[in-house]
Amino acid sequence: MKKKKSIQDFYAMKEKGEQITYITSYDYPTATFAERAGIDMILVGDSLGMCVYGYEGTMPVTMDQMIWHTEAVRRGAPNTFIIGDMPFLSYQTTDGAAVENAGRFYKEARVDCIKLEGGVRVASRIKAIVEAGMLVMGHIGLTPQSSSQLGGFKAQGRTLDSAKAQVEDALAVQEAGAGMILLEAIPPEVSGYIRDTLTIPVLSIGAGPYCDGQLLIVSDMLGVFEAFTPKFVKRYAEVAKICTEALTNYVEDVRAKKFPEPKHIYPMIPEELAKFKDWTASQKKGKK
Ligand code: KIV
Repeated sequence: MKKKKSIQDFYAMKEKGEQITYITSYDYPTATFAERAGIDMILVGDSLGMCVYGYEGTMPVTMDQMIWHTEAVRRGAPNTFIIGDMPFLSYQTTDGAAVENAGRFYKEARVDCIKLEGGVRVASRIKAIVEAGMLVMGHIGLTPQSSSQLGGFKAQGRTLDSAKAQVEDALAVQEAGAGMILLEAIPPEVSGYIRDTLTIPVLSIGAGPYCDGQLLIVSDMLGVFEAFTPKFVKRYAEVAKICTEALTNYVEDVRAKKFPEPKHIYPMIPEELAKFKDWTASQKKGKK
């Protein structure tokens, strides 16, 4: 059986220069595949708003939706380190709300860590959650929940001022007590500097190779989500294509009466079939 990794294992991996493997998952089957593949950590991301529910962004996602999906992922990956993603307005209002909602992930969905977006401005939220005994992963750079302030889903840290702001945010997240940090869509020179400056593991999604590990959205890398594909995604499969082909073949088979075949039916027990035929014959006679 796979041994579940802990935060200490991730610190040791950073120390030894071993890459941490990280993927999103939103459901039971994908979580079983990820655990079987030996993935180190799973994020139940609020990207499920787009990838599972078909919303235009992550803003409508609720705590209840996050809990249902995280419970399913935990059932599929009982021996994998799981991170619950705090949805919009589950932590932005007060430190108390942040602690209560982070606590729901722990109590109801048995996560190992929670993730929230922001740097300097969420430092007090991170501190409050850590003081309540929970583990936090910070998330800076392109933070989808504040995309309207960022002017859209845009890479960050591409100018000196923006790069300095990313470094300041990363330091604030570590200082507040976060155990790990995720950098999204920032240039490799900036993420490499942050990785070398921070003592906590630094994960990348679209932040280049000089980090302690890599995250991809499972629906992007498997070719399930078709609305758009960010530049940093590598496709490992074309699942939407495979599923569409399979469903088209099914539609054709049913229309052509090629499905079901004899091997797909439940035959009657032979003696019972003989009796059934007698009975149907008597029914027909009775009607005449
Ligand atoms: O929700 C999510 O999957 C995320 C990633 C975009 C990092 O937060």
